[in-house]
Amino acid sequence: MTTPVDWMREAGNIHWFEPPTTLLDDSRPPFYRWYPDGVTNACFNALDLHVANGRGDQPALIVDSAVTGQGRTYSYSELLESVARCAGVLAAQGVVTGDRVLIYMPMVAEAVIGMLACARLGAVHSVVFGGFASHELAVRIDDATPKLILTASCGIEPSHIVAYKPLLDAAIEMATHKPSACMVLQRAELEAELLPGRDIDWNLAMSAALEHDCVPVPSNHPLYILYTSGTTGQPKGVVRDTAGSIVALKWSMKSIYNVEPGEVFWAASDVGWVVGHSYIVYGPLFSGNTTLLYEGKPVGTPDAGAYWRVIEQYQVSVLFTAPTAFRAIRKEDSNASLMNNHDLGSLKALFLAGERCDPDTLDWAQKKLSVPVIDHWWQTETGWPICANCLGIEPLPIVPGSPARAVPGYDVVVLDEEGQVVSDDTIGALAIRLPLPPGTFTTLWNADERYEKAYFSRFPGFYETGDAGYIDDHGYVFVMARTDDVINVAGHRLSTGAMEEVLAAHPDVAECAVIGVADDMKGQLPLGLVVLSDGVTRAHSDVVAEVIASVRENIGPVAAFKQCYVVQRLPKTRSGKILRATMRSIADSQSFQVPATIDDPTILDEISAVIAGRHRGQ
Ligand code: COA
Ligand code: AMP
Repeated sequence: MTTPVDWMREAGNIHWFEPPTTLLDDSRPPFYRWYPDGVTNACFNALDLHVANGRGDQPALIVDSAVTGQGRTYSYSELLESVARCAGVLAAQGVVTGDRVLIYMPMVAEAVIGMLACARLGAVHSVVFGGFASHELAVRIDDATPKLILTASCGIEPSHIVAYKPLLDAAIEMATHKPSACMVLQRAELEAELLPGRDIDWNLAMSAALEHDCVPVPSNHPLYILYTSGTTGQPKGVVRDTAGSIVALKWSMKSIYNVEPGEVFWAASDVGWVVGHSYIVYGPLFSGNTTLLYEGKPVGTPDAGAYWRVIEQYQVSVLFTAPTAFRAIRKEDSNASLMNNHDLGSLKALFLAGERCDPDTLDWAQKKLSVPVIDHWWQTETGWPICANCLGIEPLPIVPGSPARAVPGYDVVVLDEEGQVVSDDTIGALAIRLPLPPGTFTTLWNADERYEKAYFSRFPGFYETGDAGYIDDHGYVFVMARTDDVINVAGHRLSTGAMEEVLAAHPDVAECAVIGVADDMKGQLPLGLVVLSDGVTRAHSDVVAEVIASVRENIGPVAAFKQCYVVQRLPKTRSGKILRATMRSIADSQSFQVPATIDDPTILDEISAVIAGRHRGQ
């Protein structure tokens, strides 16, 4: 057993305008509130505090754009000035504490500056990942009802330029809610047309702006909303509060990642994901690290040595990425020969998360890098790791396949169907005894009821993680699979339910199912099976091409929905439930038992034949 965290003592490590006298308000479970009577500000803790404490000249943010070949380093003082100025622009646009600001931007410094500027004013940012298309963006605009939207003219993918502005324009057109203004960063690679009266040029606005001070906010004031995939097409707006996030993330930098202030921390993710929020932006800045924003990929920008170049160039201490990035590197450079061109002596550890880390990848990374490779498990909802080998507390032996033990603050258990805690090594639902620690989600935006129902109703007194797994007799947790329709594609969390909604909307589709099938590089990929409506005589390939295009248009390229097949029927139980798990086993060539409740077992032969065709590349 590790020593529990004294969260009141940890609160003493952050800046308060008014320190809290109460640790936890537990009067309304599951709506727990940490530090309920404190007053603080996240931006102050990320920037002003460090400048006041003499870190002004230390690099705060390094931007490395492998896709443009450009880069820039901001010291803490420079970043503070830009953020204060950006907050001035937002304030001049009428943004006040509590207003929402949506951010749809690529990996540029201005995305970080925009987030921190919101935090400075107590405005609630909601960052939407650039790989999502207009429809997904529109859904989020309608849910968060932002006063202002921050965007850029384009994002740069290795093979093409993504024009962000037309995607945003289309989303605003689709949405019922209209923002009062959009602030647009013009990038030289592709400038956007600005809509007079609505769009403002980022740089012009910044050059005319006055710096704005931090607005003190109550501890439980929302810092941000981050939408994540659930079982339906309506994403869940995870809300994180201010004080809990500052205390927990700052604690995690030393206790979990074992970095000291001043060291370079690199989370190779995207600001649109939770990893980007917690470990590109907030965590490293709260703890006085130098954080790195990388616009590029592990491979192809320009090659599989990109990560090694960045580590050497900026003396990175800790790298955090998804296993898929290492699988991609290994596929292109299995001997890691490109590593030989670089001195990786600064690197102390590699942390992996976002999807299950296969032992093979962990072993390869460990052998090639000769540093501890730490698999750790967490979710958008928790905001920071649930299970990890806490290098700053007491390093544990590494057991491939396990993200090690519960991090202090999380009481992780495995429950059976009836909600009883099961014995060691028995698979069940992974759950966390309440209360969750500071920095975890406090509700879903505008959806308290959904929050209670989705996460706390099945197992009263516990948070249901949505993951299944087991705990061994040494307390090591093994996370095996999701218990819902969420899949993980290249470390990106996606809803098969949302994809099914798109397929079902096609006029020729009578029924459909989307399942996640194993993929060597991306971990999982979606695979669609559609049954056509009676009387449809069009070529199947046309319908398939249309539904594939429709998922790309509605959800976005990030869904990587490229495999879809027409079948005569879908396997179902006698009560009409589609047997997705059975189809998944067939697709993954795993053995399975024909469910006793199946309506017609012969359907499985057709599904097997279709999927066998897929393996033969038909
Ligand atoms: N804006 C617009 N489009 C984007 C985008 C963005 N920010 N990010 C991705 N896309 C697009 C890509 O261009 C691609 O489109 P395509 O179908 O036209 O090629 C699609 O979305 C899928 O992108 P991606 O998931 O990045 O796959 P990839 O095949 O381009 O690259 C990896 C594969 C493994 C290299 C890549 O997924 C990766 O670097 N993963 C690292 C891990 C990571 O970032 N995890 C996040 C959580 S920690
Ligand atoms: P996200 O909310 O996008 O961070 O995705 C969270 C989900 O990713 C979890 O519920 C898991 O299903 C999966 N996940 C994240 N990290 C791990 C890990 N280390 N091992 C296994 N699964 C993981």
